[in-house]
Amino acid sequence: MRVAVFGAGYVGLVTGACFADIGHDVVVRDVVAEKIDALRRGKVPIHEEGLDDLLEHNRERLRFTTDVDESVEGAEVVYVAVGTPPTYSGDADLSAVWTVVDELPRVDRRIVVAMKSTVPVGTGRTIRHRLDERGLENVGYVSNPEFTAEGTAVRDFKHPDRIVIGAFDPADAEVVERVHAGIDAPVIHCDVASAEMIKLAANAFLMTRISFINEIANVCEATGADVVKVAEGVGLDHRLGPHFLRAGIGYGGSCFPKDSLALKQLASNSGYHFQLLAAVIEVNELQKRRVIGKLERRLGSLRGKKVALLGLAFKPGTDDMRESPSLVLAGRLLAEGADVSAWDPVADGRVHLDGVHIADSALDALDGADAAVLVTEWPELGELDWAEAGARMRKRLLVDGRNMLDPSEMRALGFDYEGIGRAVE
Ligand SMILES: NC(=O)c1ccc[n+]([C@@H]2O[C@H](COP(=O)([O-])OP(=O)(O)OC[C@H]3O[C@@H](n4cnc5c(N)ncnc54)[C@H](O)[C@@H]3O)[C@@H](O)[C@H]2O)c1
Repeated sequence: MRVAVFGAGYVGLVTGACFADIGHDVVVRDVVAEKIDALRRGKVPIHEEGLDDLLEHNRERLRFTTDVDESVEGAEVVYVAVGTPPTYSGDADLSAVWTVVDELPRVDRRIVVAMKSTVPVGTGRTIRHRLDERGLENVGYVSNPEFTAEGTAVRDFKHPDRIVIGAFDPADAEVVERVHAGIDAPVIHCDVASAEMIKLAANAFLMTRISFINEIANVCEATGADVVKVAEGVGLDHRLGPHFLRAGIGYGGSCFPKDSLALKQLASNSGYHFQLLAAVIEVNELQKRRVIGKLERRLGSLRGKKVALLGLAFKPGTDDMRESPSLVLAGRLLAEGADVSAWDPVADGRVHLDGVHIADSALDALDGADAAVLVTEWPELGELDWAEAGARMRKRLLVDGRNMLDPSEMRALGFDYEGIGRAVE
């Protein structure tokens, strides 16, 4: 099939590459000319495991363009994977989505627009009206939300838990199901609004689990239990399962924070106060800041103290720093007058962290530090020579924000080690 993909970001590139890998002929369109030029030269603008190889391997079935007509020409399906960032009010900013809808050329055959961007419930209905107003009745509309996670997106795309297809017309749903031929997963057919809500509800539920276990961790700290053991014992209950029960310094990224805000705002715009989600969001905000309290309890005032942030990306396997806890931590530390150094194997801190010294290696970031905070559980940090790290630091204080390291091993190396929701010695 011929497939057009609007948006060459984290979702659009993975979508394009994976559909090309299935055997479809794909044209990816973006508005950023430099991005398209780079992709044409074989340079991949993001860090995503397996993506470079997939793009390279499927070169003859993939084209990149800034031109709308070129991308839509001959396409049966037009995927929309443009950004939907939060606005000041917390609502999703749909301006890029509307631009795509308004740019769609008139075609004399049936094409299906498939929405992969995460949008508020009701967006599909409004888009349908807009298409009809433009006289584009032969353009079908389907909500086909994306559930991939950065860092494992290629694998997630090829082996999804489910494919959700919400359509106004069953014939359009059938076209989108055909695009996925070869991908073995249950297909959920439903109406457009329900498909939109499945995406928002799934994300909200994952965030709820994270904030839940983080609150359990905080109570563990107050009562002497160990959240790692607690999560293991809870997660073995088949009704609950082990996923998203890792206590830490809170979720970040380009999706969870904005999608939770958008759902809360969507509910509130519809006259409903979504209390549980409001609490999930607040717990997450406070969780990121609790690290500062941990540091202050050990170091007193942070003014003039050197603190190293290890890991800047919102999670390992990506260079994405959008809404990363590292941004909040760096901001709070600088506001307290600390001297902040940081390191990440792929994320470019120079772009986002004014006033922070970006080191070339984790060990360099730790040079002369009074404390280190493990922010992102990069495998490199598990393998770091912590004896050498300790020798480089002025004080061996380590807050492990992801409970990644073994507390007893770290203490044996002379570290004053503190995790999240674990016994403090
Ligand atoms: N990042 C994820 O892991 C993930 C997972 C599931 C869903 N989503 C959702 O998918 C959507 C895209 O997310 P992302 O992380 O890929 O965003 P992104 O910011 O990485 O990429 C969006 C791309 O769209 C381009 N764009 C903007 N206007 C355009 C237009 N008119 N035509 C073509 N391209 C245009 C931008 O230049 C950018 O390259 C969002 O709604 C997000 O919530 C993201």
